[in-house]
Amino acid sequence: MPLSSFTKLRLTQMAKASCVVAALAAGFANTALAQEKHRMTLAEQMIQDMKDGKVGPAGADDHVVQELIIKRSIPITYKYINTLMNTPNAFGPGVACTTCHNSTDPSKSYRGLDLSTCKGMIEGSTEKPKRKLFTPGTDPKRDVLVRRLRNNRMPLGQGFEHSTFTPNHMLVKNWIADGAKNDDHFNKNVLPLFKTPNAFGPDTPACTACHMSNQEPPSFHELNLSTHAGILLGADSVAKGVDKATKVIVPGDPEKSFVWQHLSEDRMPPGISPSEPRDHPNTTILSAWIKQGAKCD
Ligand code: HEC
Ligand code: HEC
Repeated sequence: MPLSSFTKLRLTQMAKASCVVAALAAGFANTALAQEKHRMTLAEQMIQDMKDGKVGPAGADDHVVQELIIKRSIPITYKYINTLMNTPNAFGPGVACTTCHNSTDPSKSYRGLDLSTCKGMIEGSTEKPKRKLFTPGTDPKRDVLVRRLRNNRMPLGQGFEHSTFTPNHMLVKNWIADGAKNDDHFNKNVLPLFKTPNAFGPDTPACTACHMSNQEPPSFHELNLSTHAGILLGADSVAKGVDKATKVIVPGDPEKSFVWQHLSEDRMPPGISPSEPRDHPNTTILSAWIKQGAKCD
């Protein structure tokens, strides 16, 4: 995947986001006035927003979901979530989730994960290591389920058919588990992996081809994987400030470290292209259902 198309994708997304902000600012005064008189019904609000240019024409799916569903706190039903789990292409091209995750029996269903029932979704993976996929009532962005829908496996473009348990993967995992120290072992055996093509699977660029400095572009997420200090500093240290940079390593805890998550977790459904939008409208709706408490009725 050429870098330029990712940059374009991000730029389009950023342009869209700033349009929404501008449109909201323009529409706010009117809506606030109207709401003083009487509480508008959803339909009245929608007509007002269309007049104010807040709701775009057909085609802008993610915009419509944000404006008409998320901002209005429309309750998401489990019935809709169940349909998503059973429908091909629901989160981008690929077969339905329940083809592979439809029972708590790990001999029939990957990870013993049953996404075909509400109980199964809440229970999570039943094969060892057992785990819940989210916490009802909280933002699931960094939890297993939504991570698997949004995060591409690294190095970007790495296919799910390649193992996440190679000796090089284990070197990184164990280095984090042992405290992520800047010692001889790290400098001799771990750091070079981030700088070497094909270190984590065939036909893939080095991590540092895309994460080489704190400047974006060219470095994705302002992440510098070429030095110990850069790795420990984390992502977006310029945009958010050094103190608020996104930590990608939690020393001693690989499972919580984004570097390990991105190395070991395939994006779902398997085979989906990394250039598919990470914020699919149905991923936004699934997240809203979880934030609203993941109710089964
Ligand atoms: C073709 C089969 C297949 C399909 C379809 C599929 N998965 Fe998976 N899924 C797997 C495999 C295999 C694993 C375990 C290997 C791995 O971690 O990548 C997995 C792992 C997961 C995990 C991690 C569970 C844990 O305990 O870490 C989640 C969450 C998940 N899938 C969600 C989904 C969702 C949501 C969909 C639908 C968008 C989906 N899967 C579609 C095969 C599939
Ligand atoms: C071809 C470019 C490319 C390569 C090579 C690449 N990445 Fe990435 N990386 C990205 C993009 C694009 C993102 C944005 C998130 C996504 O696509 O899931 C990202 C995101 C990340 C993040 C998340 C940062 C955050 O703010 O949460 C981590 C961690 C990461 N990459 C680690 C790695 C590691 C480790 C390697 C090497 C094994 C690697 N990347 C190789 C392009 C790349």
